[in-house]
Parts: sequence; structure tokens; C-alpha cells
Amino acid sequence: MNKAIDPALMQAAEATGSQLGAYWMPFTANRQFKKSPRLVTRAAGMHYWDEHGRQILDTVAGLWCVNAGHGRPRIVRAIQDQAAEMDFAPPFQMGHPKAFELAERLTAIAPAGMGKAFFTNSGSEAVETALKMALAYHRVRGEGTRTRLIGRERGYHGVNFGGISVGGMVANRKTFGAMLAGVDHIRHTHDPARNAFSVGQPAHGVELADDLERRIALHDASTIAAVIVEPIAGSTGVLVPPQGYLQRLREICTKHGILLIFDEVITGFGRTGQPFAAQTFGVTPDLMTIAKGLTNGSVPMGAVLAKDEIHDAFMQGPEHMVEFMHGYTYSGHPLACAAGIATLDTYAEEGLLTRAGELSGTFAEAVHSLKGEPHVIDIRNFGLVAGIELAPIADAPTRRAFSVFLDCYERGMMVRTTGDTVALSPPLIIERSHIDQIVETLRGALRRAA
Ligand SMILES: Cc1ncc(COP(=O)(O)O)c(C=O)c1O
Repeated sequence: MNKAIDPALMQAAEATGSQLGAYWMPFTANRQFKKSPRLVTRAAGMHYWDEHGRQILDTVAGLWCVNAGHGRPRIVRAIQDQAAEMDFAPPFQMGHPKAFELAERLTAIAPAGMGKAFFTNSGSEAVETALKMALAYHRVRGEGTRTRLIGRERGYHGVNFGGISVGGMVANRKTFGAMLAGVDHIRHTHDPARNAFSVGQPAHGVELADDLERRIALHDASTIAAVIVEPIAGSTGVLVPPQGYLQRLREICTKHGILLIFDEVITGFGRTGQPFAAQTFGVTPDLMTIAKGLTNGSVPMGAVLAKDEIHDAFMQGPEHMVEFMHGYTYSGHPLACAAGIATLDTYAEEGLLTRAGELSGTFAEAVHSLKGEPHVIDIRNFGLVAGIELAPIADAPTRRAFSVFLDCYERGMMVRTTGDTVALSPPLIIERSHIDQIVETLRGALRRAA
């Protein structure tokens, strides 16, 4: 039982379901958590503090979002000032200056030609928006037969119906019925037999992109609107694209008039050493979904970045008519826009959008030093992302990684696990001493793990 919570209240909570009982927590083992809560109450820089005042190193940038570290004063001030000046502005048929400013600033750091930004409130909403944009784009151009969407096995694109339909995480899909019709998947790129313990991009697997040609041969290109992939798949355990793979996907999409969507919700905003993974890997998609680091995690916000020609194709018909029947009450919310602008200022001032490139060698060497520790069957890394995959306990998948998570937490460090992989994506302000702490804490936890 958690000491900081009044034991009497806790007992009452157990009896009545009150206090901790009312909150049905997302993607959480609710019963385990409520027996042994992990409550954080403060954050600054690379750290959280729990309700006992214990310092906890954040190796995950919150949830892949707090790229500039926690509690950045410029961002805090921007949100406070904006809340005082104007709390809300309707986004339909109205606008406010900061939404236009943020769109300009985002497209200035986006790959060349991606000159338009459409705002949403999360990565999941950005994905839904991009999928709808792709379908509508073909239709406005008179290619309305292009209705199929292609995702990839082991892909994660948020939790809404479009996202789980194109996504490839079985546990996220199997409970929720038939989902969108007309969706297919190309195969994933995880190939431990050939690529285990690769440093950076694996050497083998460019040919896996040709699976898209097979899908096209099956369905015909005239029925396919878009392909969506994460440049680095995060939620299924940090899968780095094989060398040449993304280039090959791009070539195939271009050849067949299919839009390529990069879901950069976790790879955006400096995670790979450039503002976006598209730039790091030298492959420009047609649409890009972003969120998380867009506001340094401070206010919910997502966006779709689109090539100019995609936007321009919609600009037809009577001028008083809405061109794209889509949007959210909180698209371009003033607080999110203020936070986004201050976040981009912070990234620029401190060179954070390229810092992962400078640190990636040190980070790679440190995480790969865990090779040979108990249970470790693969280590994958790129920029400031790493996945340390553990052998699952027979008949109890995920339990070993979860025990490592709990062990690290006990020792003042928060990691993230997905399946039996420990995923690291620290704030981009990380220093060498933090890297050492991460690796040594993990080493200890691995040695203690059953
Ligand atoms: C690649 C990718 N797409 C979409 C999402 C969904 O973002 P959100 O949780 O903000 O809806 C995530 C979240 O982790 C993600 O990793």
C-alpha cells in the first residue's frame, strides 16, 4: 500500500472503490497499479518527483513527448500568458494569429514541399485526419476508386478506428470488431535472425518493402489511396528501418500514384537527429502525422503536415464552400499554439533538434554494452531511441519486462516497456551522466530479474 496516501482512505478506497477507484486508467494494469500506485507530482528537467519527494530519472521523455525536458520556463510562461489573454477561439470560419504563426514555423522545419499544417489534438487524431485527407485527395482529383489504406504489421497509429485498422498490434485490434473495410498490411521489418544487435540501421531487409508490390498486384494500384508507416516503429519495440527500406517504399508509392504517410508522432522533433525522421533518412512522404514533441508534451496537440499540392488539389469549387469537411473544436487551440511556438523557440535556442545526432554514438555504445546481460536477446537503437528486447518468460509474455520496469522505478528511474522490450527515448537535453545512470540501473535490474 502506498504510504503517502492516507491508509484509512486507502482502506476505504479498497472497500468502496473511491479515491483511486474512479479513474479507469488508459493502457494500464489498473488492479496492479491501484494496489501499488506510482504517483508523480512534480517534474523538472530530466526528472520527476513522486509524492514522497523521491527523484525519478525520466528515460522516456514522459511518453516520447517531453523532448526539451520538463518544466521549461519559456513554455510555462507562454501557456500562462495565453490563458490570460484569450482562452479559446473557434477554429471553424474563424482564426487567431498564433495558429497561423505555428503553422508557418512548423512548415519551415518540415521537409521541403510540405508547406501546409492541419491541427488536431493528439497523434491518434492526426492519423485519422491524414487517412481521411488521403481518401478525399484522390476523390477531389477524380480518382475516387482509390479507397484502400495499407498499413504494416507491428505498426502503431494510435487508438482510434482508422489507426487500429491500419495498425498492426494484435492486442490493440482483436477486441474491437471488424474495423475499417478495405485495409491491408505489408509485412513488418523485424528480422532478429539476420539483424540482432545491429547498431543503427540494420543491414538486411530492404527487400521487405517489395511486399507492397505484392499488395498492389493483389488489389491493383487504382484501388489504393495511401500507405502509412512509422519511420521507426516505436510501440512494437523500436524497429529501425533496414538500410534502403524507406527509399524503396517511396519509389513504389510514387510509381503507383499512392500517397506515402509517415507517422512521425514519436520520431518527430529531434528524436533521430533532424527535426523529422524523413530528413534523417532522406525520404519525403506526402503526408506526415506529428504530435507529442510539438508542444513538448505540455498541452495536447497533433498535426498533419501535407505537401502543398495535396492541399492545393482541394482548393476548387465555389470559394464560400468548405473544401475539406473535417476538423476538431480544439484544432489549433490557443494554449496549444502558444505552447508549440515556445517549444520550437526552445528547441532552436538550444540546438535540440540536432542534438540526438551528436549524442547517438555515445548512447549507442552505452546501450549496446548491455549485450550479454541476462535475458537480453536483442538491442536496437537509432538517434536517442533504443529498444532492449528480453527473452519472454515461458507462458508469461511481458512479465519479465514489467518486472524490470518495476525494479528500475524502485531505484529512481522510469523506463517504458512494450511487450518484452524496454524502450528508451530520453529527453534530448540528456547528459552523459544520465546515460551512465540509465545503463547501470538497467544492468542491475536485468541481473536481478527472474
Ligand atoms: C507512431 C504513433 N502514432 C500515433 C500515436 C498516438 O498518439 P496519441 O497517443 O497522442 O493519440 C502514437 C502514440 O504513441 C504513436 O507512437
